Amino acid sequence: MMVADLQECRALRDTRSAVFLADARNMRRYMSPNSIDAIITSPPYPNEKDYSRTTRLESVLLGFMSSREDLRKQKQQFIRSNTRGVYKADEDHHWVQDIPRIQELANSIEARRLELGKTSGFEKQYAKVVRLYFGGMARHLSELRSLLRPGAKLAYVVGDQASYFRIMIRTGQILAEVAERLGYEVMDIDLFRTRFSTATKEHLREEVLLLKWNG
Ligand SMILES: C[S@@+](CC[C@H](N)C(=O)[O-])C[C@H]1O[C@@H](n2cnc3c(N)ncnc32)[C@H](O)[C@@H]1O
Repeated sequence: MMVADLQECRALRDTRSAVFLADARNMRRYMSPNSIDAIITSPPYPNEKDYSRTTRLESVLLGFMSSREDLRKQKQQFIRSNTRGVYKADEDHHWVQDIPRIQELANSIEARRLELGKTSGFEKQYAKVVRLYFGGMARHLSELRSLLRPGAKLAYVVGDQASYFRIMIRTGQILAEVAERLGYEVMDIDLFRTRFSTATKEHLREEVLLLKWNG
């Protein structure tokens, strides 16, 4: 379907397109200030999924990766969303250290771990990965501000998660707070579907967070 779409676009010679293999937290070197009118994206969620796995075969076949070192470099460009992709030098958590809701969420995950007596290396990182996730998204939204044109609109598809000891993470709501603190206007958090979680017996919301940058 994507190939068919691209072939159709070829006829539109006035519509330029460019693909950047880049880290969305670090885009100023690729794009000019005041150049973005709209963003539509589906970023990672804090769901313990290793996104390098879903495309590993393609990454090797298409020549983007040929060694473990290449894989590590790719994973380091990811917003942290799983404990297998956390590194010692990670510092994105600083971006959200003043947001009580995120600190309380991470603290409750760690408290639940202690209560359940879970001691594996991965489980010990759950609270950290939540802080790194929201910190990474904050860094991305902060970086974007100089690149957006006043009036630019942004749409982020995100889902609630309960991957860490079944503690509910309201991803869309928390990202809305992060964005508001960075000066964005939250236009809406639009529910587009729910998924039933057999683990928590609750409906997890998948939402589109709609933001506006007023300059
Ligand atoms: C929820 S998935 C969406 C995938 C895509 N919309 C699709 O349908 O295939 C999130 C994607 O964000 C990518 N990603 C993670 N960190 C990123 C970063 N720092 N910069 C750019 N993309 C990133 C992951 O590799 C993954 O493909």
